Amino acid sequence: MKSPSFSMPLFLLVLFSFSWATSARTHDSFLQCLSLHSDINARLIYTQNSSSYESVLELSVRNARFSTPTTPRPLVIVTPSNVSHIQATINCSREHDMQIRIRSGGHDYEGLSYVSKVPFVIIDLINMRSIDVDTEEKTAWIQAGATIGELYYRIAEKSATLAFPAGVCPTVGVGGHFSGGGYGMMTRKFGLAADQIIDAHIVTVDGRILDRNSMGEDLFWAIRGGGGASFGVIVAWKVKLVSVPSTVTVFTVNRTLEENATKLVHKWQSVAEAIDEDLYFRLFLRAVNSSQEGKRTVQASFTSLFLGRIDQLIALMQESFPEFGLVKEDCIEMSWIQSILYFAEIPQSESLDVLLNRTVTAGFFKGKSDYVTEPIPEIALEGLWQWFYEDESETLGLIFSPYGGIMDEISESETPFPHRAGNLYNIHYGVSWEEEDASTSQKHINFMRRLYKYMEPYVSKSPRAAYMNYRDLDLGSNNKGKYTSYTQASRWALKYFKNNFNKLIHVKNMVDPQNFFRHEQSVPTLLRE
Ligand SMILES: Cc1cc2nc3c(=O)[nH]c(=O)nc-3n(C[C@H](O)[C@H](O)[C@H](O)COP(=O)(O)OP(=O)(O)OC[C@H]3O[C@@H](n4cnc5c(N)ncnc54)[C@H](O)[C@@H]3O)c2cc1C
Ligand SMILES: *[C@@H]1O[C@H](CO)[C@@H](O)[C@H](O)[C@H]1NC(C)=O
Ligand SMILES: *[C@@H]1O[C@H](CO)[C@@H](O)[C@H](O)[C@H]1NC(C)=O
Ligand SMILES: *[C@@H]1O[C@H](CO)[C@@H](O)[C@H](O)[C@H]1NC(C)=O
Ligand SMILES: *[C@@H]1O[C@H](CO)[C@@H](O)[C@H](O)[C@H]1NC(C)=O
Ligand SMILES: *[C@@H]1O[C@H](CO)[C@@H](O)[C@H](O)[C@H]1NC(C)=O
Ligand SMILES: *[C@@H]1O[C@H](CO)[C@@H](O)[C@H](O)[C@H]1NC(C)=O
Ligand SMILES: *[C@@H]1O[C@H](CO)[C@@H](O)[C@H](O)[C@H]1NC(C)=O
Repeated sequence: MKSPSFSMPLFLLVLFSFSWATSARTHDSFLQCLSLHSDINARLIYTQNSSSYESVLELSVRNARFSTPTTPRPLVIVTPSNVSHIQATINCSREHDMQIRIRSGGHDYEGLSYVSKVPFVIIDLINMRSIDVDTEEKTAWIQAGATIGELYYRIAEKSATLAFPAGVCPTVGVGGHFSGGGYGMMTRKFGLAADQIIDAHIVTVDGRILDRNSMGEDLFWAIRGGGGASFGVIVAWKVKLVSVPSTVTVFTVNRTLEENATKLVHKWQSVAEAIDEDLYFRLFLRAVNSSQEGKRTVQASFTSLFLGRIDQLIALMQESFPEFGLVKEDCIEMSWIQSILYFAEIPQSESLDVLLNRTVTAGFFKGKSDYVTEPIPEIALEGLWQWFYEDESETLGLIFSPYGGIMDEISESETPFPHRAGNLYNIHYGVSWEEEDASTSQKHINFMRRLYKYMEPYVSKSPRAAYMNYRDLDLGSNNKGKYTSYTQASRWALKYFKNNFNKLIHVKNMVDPQNFFRHEQSVPTLLRE
């Protein structure tokens, strides 16, 4: 054992200095290439020598696991302000054999928008985030670097009765969110963010700028749920806006195990999916210290958006879920844009400008997801509660997000996002921690893997489906090289896309046959088996 482990550092040293010298050269000529191919201002380009390289890189890092001293860093960060800069970056990255990572809001759970194991360049769309709302046509053009908070703000600026159905956290970027689906508090009424897209601009591997018409319906289909980063750089989306009442109603009701939470959660599973689609009735589960005895218990926190007034909501709940016992005092009426703050847990006293704040606090985080097609029996829920009493579960949070409503009416192949009729709800598992050491990380990640294993009998099967926007590399990843075998890719891809995977491969072969746009879970071009 001793001699091989002794020789390793020497070997690595040689390898390192070699690749360092190579990369420095590549790097210079890459920069030359960029200036040759576009009028890009040097201020939009950050090398590791730039004084603001660090802050630009960190600005959109949402998961501290991918911002440690050993995390690989990009050679260059390009922050285009014009589509011509994107074209030049693609051209020069290809010429110099560098990979591209594309970043919008940076919320990728596995950091795939800003980390790669090979020499790479980040295209960060932070400077391309204009939003153009047309209240007459009820549409908006949104550049891919915008966040959903910015979008909500710009809509509310112009109208109190137009809205957009997307996620809850305002700092999520539209580049990743829309191209992976994007659901939120109005999904049962209107569908996903991706379901609202009516046009898009994308730059493909050959540097062409395409719109819906010139890209064709297959590529336009692929980027509405298949993930953008497999196909090109999305520059902008055009979406339909939706109409909402000027007053909506929200409530949050907490119940612990001592307050009959188990029975309510059990019943919730069949109610929330079937109830009137104007009501989005979501469930958070976490460990809390019981107020009476101070000992740990599980809290079910029911959180809702109703597209109507309090009286209608009370009547609806009385009819569909009387045991829940919702009363007027639990409910608050407000505008739709105020409800955005409410669900983001931002105090109502804050100015709406807070939605424009892109600064994120990055803890260490691991997430996973599941789909539930049959109510989980009470006895299995009792088993699930046990997980909230372990050491690692202080920050464990489960979110049950109901489907049904319009989600049942959209076919599985309408977009690459296949999780439609037959799903009662989606489960999001999350755990976070503050300490940077590897053993704390491993402890929490292992905890999540064990919990995921426990849930297997109670969730969707063949495949055990997962939501692509809750990216999870535990599910599998591509080969490091250009080609991946179908067997290898299907491990993760069938979970995200089910039968739509084949069409995604077809589109990939059509628009990027050399597999330039790739990452650990990009749609692959396949090695024949
Ligand atoms: C705190 C938090 C809350 C969340 N809440 C919700 C929620 O309520 N509902 C929900 O559905 N999801 C939610 N998500 C998941 C979120 O939808 C995904 O993480 C989404 O992919 C993030 O998009 P982004 O642009 O911020 O991320 P990024 O990390 O920038 O991108 C994610 C992926 O998309 C690619 N990509 C980004 N921009 C482009 C582009 N312009 N062209 C091509 N490819 C691109 C990236 O390369 C990467 O592969 C949440 C995530 C977090 C961290
Ligand atoms: C970074 O700075 C060093 C020292 O000033 C210099 O030798 C190197 O070429 C620079 N690299 C780049 C990419 O600018
Ligand atoms: C982008 O650059 C092109 C020329 O390359 C120019 O015609 C166009 O006006 C620019 N667009 C913006 C928004 O600056
Ligand atoms: C880059 O652009 C030049 C023309 O400006 C072209 O000749 C070359 O083929 C392009 N390279 C790639 C990889 O697209
Ligand atoms: C529900 O519990 C959470 C903590 O888990 C708390 O922040 C919130 O204020 C509670 N809401 C109500 C309405 O009691
Ligand atoms: C729990 O259920 C029992 C029996 O159904 C009922 O008597 C009791 O009031 C409930 N407790 C709470 C806190 O709702
Ligand atoms: C519960 O109490 C313990 C011990 O008093 C404390 O360390 C912990 O932070 C509390 N947890 C929550 C969720 O409040
Ligand atoms: C933006 O949000 C961050 C993190 O929540 C906060 O620290 C900062 O003060 C906010 N900035 C402004 C201008 O509100």
